[in-house]
Amino acid sequence: MQIRKDLILKYNQPGPRYTSYPPANYFQSLSIEDYTQALVLSNKEEPRSISLYVHIPFCPKLCHFCGCNTSGSKNEDLFRRYVDAVKMEINNVADLLDHSRKVTQIHWGGGTPNSIPMSLVKEIMDLIKERFQFDEHPEIAMECSPAYLELEHIDELAAMGFNRLSLGIQDFNKDVLKIVNRDPAKLPVEDLVGRMKKNGFEGVNLDLIYGLPGQTVENFRKSIEKVIEISPDRLVTFSYAHVPWVKKAQSALEKVGIPSGHEKLDLMEMAYGLLTDNGYVPIGMDHYAKPEDELYKALVNKKLHRNFQGYCTRETTGQVYGFGSSSIAQLDNGYYQNTKSIKGYIEGINEKGWAVERGYQVNLNEKIIRTVINEVMCNLFLDFEVVGNMYQKSAAKIKEIVSYDEKKLQGFVDDSLMEINGEQISINNDGSLVVRNIAMCFDPQLTVTENQYSKTI
Ligand SMILES: C[S@@+](CC[C@H](N)C(=O)[O-])C[C@H]1O[C@@H](n2cnc3c(N)ncnc32)[C@H](O)[C@@H]1O
Ligand code: SF4
Repeated sequence: MQIRKDLILKYNQPGPRYTSYPPANYFQSLSIEDYTQALVLSNKEEPRSISLYVHIPFCPKLCHFCGCNTSGSKNEDLFRRYVDAVKMEINNVADLLDHSRKVTQIHWGGGTPNSIPMSLVKEIMDLIKERFQFDEHPEIAMECSPAYLELEHIDELAAMGFNRLSLGIQDFNKDVLKIVNRDPAKLPVEDLVGRMKKNGFEGVNLDLIYGLPGQTVENFRKSIEKVIEISPDRLVTFSYAHVPWVKKAQSALEKVGIPSGHEKLDLMEMAYGLLTDNGYVPIGMDHYAKPEDELYKALVNKKLHRNFQGYCTRETTGQVYGFGSSSIAQLDNGYYQNTKSIKGYIEGINEKGWAVERGYQVNLNEKIIRTVINEVMCNLFLDFEVVGNMYQKSAAKIKEIVSYDEKKLQGFVDDSLMEINGEQISINNDGSLVVRNIAMCFDPQLTVTENQYSKTI
């Protein structure tokens, strides 16, 4: 399968990834009262189900490319104090929630959640089970680094109820990993995946990154071939987001030489071609799944959804409550982020019971824009009448709210990336590769200044 590189390069400009709407750079300072009131209000919001996110900001070694909120601390005493604070925060949030609502999704991210002792993970999971009612079949997932993952850990996680694991591979090439200061998997990844399948895990995901120093089409092809051999249910090929003005450690990679936009595109084209030729279907931006995976079924049924943790189905996602430093609660009424400092988080929780620092309270018009952008970004399809019905408004009113201007989309139509039929907009496979740029046309608040967003490629 060929991709139209000329068009992708034409549209390669900085823009939001729209993981939230408005994007996180719009967040402002918020008070504890704002957050606790929002938590109470969230009991009445749709979807009613509960998603929980637990952030573990520790990694034994820091990768130079990393854009996540983490630290290189290995201090066991700090792990203990951090986990105690997370447990206190879970109790405080649980006290405000309506317990007829059920948990459909739990996601552990970081940092590296599997780098703290499993006994601490279990303490948090036990508390969650004590304080919340679970749906019949919740999705319980953890992002793991295979550099620190033992087979026994997989058994222990399965016993705690985890049913999905994501392994951060980034690249199988040891020279590339060395350049980016990352340890390779401790055990063969196929053995780890075999153990997950033996334990009945329903979902195995692998994360890769393209655009790292040292990657070439030839050596990255070998990594993609290895992925195909391991045959995960889902995988992500993230485009390396280079934002040294936020993540200073990334500057180290500039000295080695970061692939250019053209080179990145060659890597992406090779991965896209090889994966789609081997039975994977693209999902949203950078994600792939097997056709039998529920994410693909959701895409076909226009029920794909997204939150800061990645793509999900409308059935699994709920109001998302975040725990831990830098975690973000993603509620219908807004976003509420805890302080990024580990010390500040522990102190805030111990002294005030809360560590919320900033966020954004979303008004009705912004909810509508968010829905429109989500439909474009996830489902590659938009029907103004359907969105209007959701908010008891006419299609014309929805268009007015998103400052719809067909002229802004004409270039994409002329380049055969999308079609406009009356009130409906459909984006095709080629268009899906520039979907961020298309979504930007539905964002009336968008202004892009230098060093604000990474480029689309
Ligand atoms: C929290 S990490 C996953 C778990 C674990 N820490 C690991 O690295 O294996 C989340 C993922 O974000 C991706 N990531 C991190 N920094 C990135 C960047 N600058 N650009 C693109 N993807 C990035 C990596 O693929 C990584 O697997
Ligand atoms: S990519 Fe993962 S292991 Fe590497 S520093 Fe970031 S969070 Fe830690």
